Amino acid sequence: MKKLLPVYVRVPLLFATVLIGLEYFIDSGDRPAFVKYPMVSLFLAVFLFLLIAIEIVVNAVDKVTYHLLTDEQRKQLEEAQTIPITQSKFLKGLMQKLTRSKEIEQESDVMLNHDYDGIKELDNVLPPWWVYLFYGTIAFAFIYLIRFHVLDGDTQADEFKHEVELANLEIQKNATAKPDDMNIDKVTLLTDEASLAKGKEVFTNACAACHKADGGGIVGPNLTDEFWINGGGIKNVFKIISEGSKNNQSMVSWKGIFKPTEIQQIASYVLSLQGSKPAGGKPAEGQKWVEEAAPKTDATPVVDSTKVAPTK
Ligand code: HEC
Repeated sequence: MKKLLPVYVRVPLLFATVLIGLEYFIDSGDRPAFVKYPMVSLFLAVFLFLLIAIEIVVNAVDKVTYHLLTDEQRKQLEEAQTIPITQSKFLKGLMQKLTRSKEIEQESDVMLNHDYDGIKELDNVLPPWWVYLFYGTIAFAFIYLIRFHVLDGDTQADEFKHEVELANLEIQKNATAKPDDMNIDKVTLLTDEASLAKGKEVFTNACAACHKADGGGIVGPNLTDEFWINGGGIKNVFKIISEGSKNNQSMVSWKGIFKPTEIQQIASYVLSLQGSKPAGGKPAEGQKWVEEAAPKTDATPVVDSTKVAPTK
């Protein structure tokens, strides 16, 4: 009998099956399980290693046994290997067990002796595969009966009720959740570590490609100096990240991707880089930004922080 699948199909197929199984059963949110949990990657690596090792060992054992065979046995083995799988003894035996069909030559054994205008009838046994299936349904019915009518399992109506309850809970939760109403008028500079850490995470993932991880600038300008093309200060930075730059299409609007409070965190992180002077940072662009003094109580001036402060 030939091997069912060649090794270069068998190993990847087994590996893929296990990988898909793991991804299916391990709840890892939006990232694949083997990225999120290093243990899973480790397991996969060990599994792949074992698979390959087993293949090599089996192959070696096969070779050794082949050398130990007598010429007669080798001939037999080669003959057996040329038979396609569908003709193998094992499959043929299995088919016979499951169908108990009679060969055409033996039909006379099961022929009934009535004959209607040349139409005859064979007295075949019920095919075992069908009979087993039938027994299976009886066993299933029995278990079902005990589970749901004697032991009081959840009926479909109960299941429906549970799901409706869960959905109602979800609706209530959403109704009480606060909407994210951060905006340019309200935005303030955050300095707490947790917010800056979140801002940093986003910055490294989404912004570092153009601004460099340390903010020194590549395609985008240096964000660590006091010079700003679009104005400094939390409101301007919040605005440029939310809306994008009108002068340069590379700096797109991020408000469809991040929530306003997230943008506040990112903007705060960007401003926390002020004066960090990273090595290899781009030269200053734009105008120097001077934070306007806190408004005096009597004058109540309207501070329009979206305007660039005068340069010195
Ligand atoms: C595809 C490249 C690119 C990406 C990605 C990018 N930027 Fe920019 N960014 C730019 C460019 C180019 C400018 C200059 C815009 C201009 O000239 O008005 C800029 C400008 C800015 C400015 C204003 C700088 C100034 O001097 O006015 C800020 C702040 C900023 N980006 C923050 C971010 C943040 C935060 C992210 C990530 C959420 C980000 N950028 C992602 C290219 C990019």
